[in-house]
Amino acid sequence: MSITFSVKGDAVTKQDFAAMAEEVKACHTALHEKTGKGNDFVGWVDWPVDYDKEEFARIKKAAEKIQKQSEVLIVIGIGGSYLGTRTALDFIKTPFYNEDKKKTTPDIYFVGNNISSAYLSDILGILGDRDFSVNVISKSGTTTEPAIAFRIFKQLLENKYGKEGAAERIYATTDRARGALKTMCNTEGYETFIIPDDIGGRFTVLTAVGMLAMAVAGVDIDKVMEGAQWAREAYSNPDIMENPCYQYAAARNFFYRNGKTVEILANYEPHMVSFGEWYKQLYAESEGKDGKGIFPVAANFSTDLHSIGQFIQEGSRYFFETVMWCKEPKSTVLVPFDAEDLDGLNFLKGKEMQFVNSKAFAGTMLAHMDGGVPNMVIEMDRMDAWHFGALVYFFEKAVGISGYMLDVNPFNQPGVEAYKKNMFALLGKPGYEDMKEELEKRLNG
Ligand code: PA5
Repeated sequence: MSITFSVKGDAVTKQDFAAMAEEVKACHTALHEKTGKGNDFVGWVDWPVDYDKEEFARIKKAAEKIQKQSEVLIVIGIGGSYLGTRTALDFIKTPFYNEDKKKTTPDIYFVGNNISSAYLSDILGILGDRDFSVNVISKSGTTTEPAIAFRIFKQLLENKYGKEGAAERIYATTDRARGALKTMCNTEGYETFIIPDDIGGRFTVLTAVGMLAMAVAGVDIDKVMEGAQWAREAYSNPDIMENPCYQYAAARNFFYRNGKTVEILANYEPHMVSFGEWYKQLYAESEGKDGKGIFPVAANFSTDLHSIGQFIQEGSRYFFETVMWCKEPKSTVLVPFDAEDLDGLNFLKGKEMQFVNSKAFAGTMLAHMDGGVPNMVIEMDRMDAWHFGALVYFFEKAVGISGYMLDVNPFNQPGVEAYKKNMFALLGKPGYEDMKEELEKRLNG
C-alpha cells in the first residue's frame, strides 16, 4: 500500500528542487513548530495520532444505532462540513452507493450544500416516508445553507417521531463550546461530536465531520486513520529530496513562479470526481488570497478530454496538470469480441478496460507535455479506505507547505464573508439596512 509522486520529464529538475530545499525546510519548521501564519489552525498535522479515541469509539456506536434505526441518513453541511464526506463515500465505496441494491447500510443524501428549492424538494421526495436520521455538521451553526436545511429536516423529524424521538435521531457535529448549533445541542440533548478548535473546516474530513457518515456507510474508519498515520510519518521529513509531498508543494510553486497560475487536478476514475471538488475547496480557500495563488481546477478524464481536451492541448499556456492515477481497478471488465467489428476495435478483444484506460492516461500525458503542459502524477495502488486517509493527508500537508511558500496564511478564508454580507443585506437581515439601500441602488442603477 503506498502513494507515489513524480514530475514527468524535466519540468522540475533535481537542481530545481535542491534550490528550494532551504525554503521548504523553513516552511516545514513553521508548520511543525507552529510559528507560521495561521498557527492556531494546524491541529490537523498530528490529528492522525492525536485524535480523540473516546469520541472515535462513540462515532462507531452512533453509526451502528443509525444503521439499526434508519433507512436513510441525511447529512447536512456545506464546504468543509460536506465535501470531504461525500468524497470519502464516492472514493472508498462508489458514486452509486445509494443505488446499490445489495448493500445493507442506509442510503445517504447530502443537503444544505446549496440554496436550491428544487434540489431539496427532490431529496424530500426520494426520502418519502422512510425512517431517517440526521447528521447536521456546522462549526459556526449559523451558515445559511445548512441552517435552512436543518430547520426543514428537524421539523420533519419532530412531526414524524415527536420531539424526544427526533432528538434520538439528530447527531450534531459542531464546535466544542460555542455557536448556535452547540447551544441547540445543549438544550435539546442531541448526541454531539466535536469539530476541533484548531482544525479549520476544509481540513476536517478525518474528524467526526467525515467519520460518522463513513462509518454509517460501512467504511472501515480504522483503516482510514491507518492511511493517514502512514502519510503523517511518510511526509514528516523536512528534506525535500526525501519527501514526495514537499516535492509536490515545491513543484507547484516552481510552476507558479514561472507563469503557470492554474493547476488542473485530473483523474481517470468517476469515483474521484468529488475528490476534485474537495481539492478545489482545500486549495482555493487555502491559497487564493492577498492577490496570490494557484487557481485549482478539476478535470475528469477521459470524459473531459472530449470537452476541455482541445484547450489543454492547444489553448493559452498558463496551467500545469497533476494526474491522480489508480493502478488497480475496483473491478475487471473485458472488451468483448464483435463478429462484425464495424468500430474496428477487435484488436482490443479480451483486454481489460483498465488496460485501455492506462493507455489513455499515458498517451494523454505525453500529448499534453508535447503541448507545453507540465505533468505531475500522484499514483495510488487502489481506491480504498487506507489510500483515502493517506491521500487526504498528502494533499493537506502539501497545501500547508505550498501556502507558506506563497507567503499567505493557508488556514483562514476571509474572502468567503464578502458574498454573505451582501446576501444578508439584500435579504433584509436586521442591522444591514444601510448596506441594503446602497446595494439595491447599484443593482438597479
Ligand atoms: O473551510 C471552511 O472553513 C468553510 O468552507 C466552512 O467549512 C464552511 O463555510 C462551513 O462552515 P460551518 O461549518 O461553520 O457551517
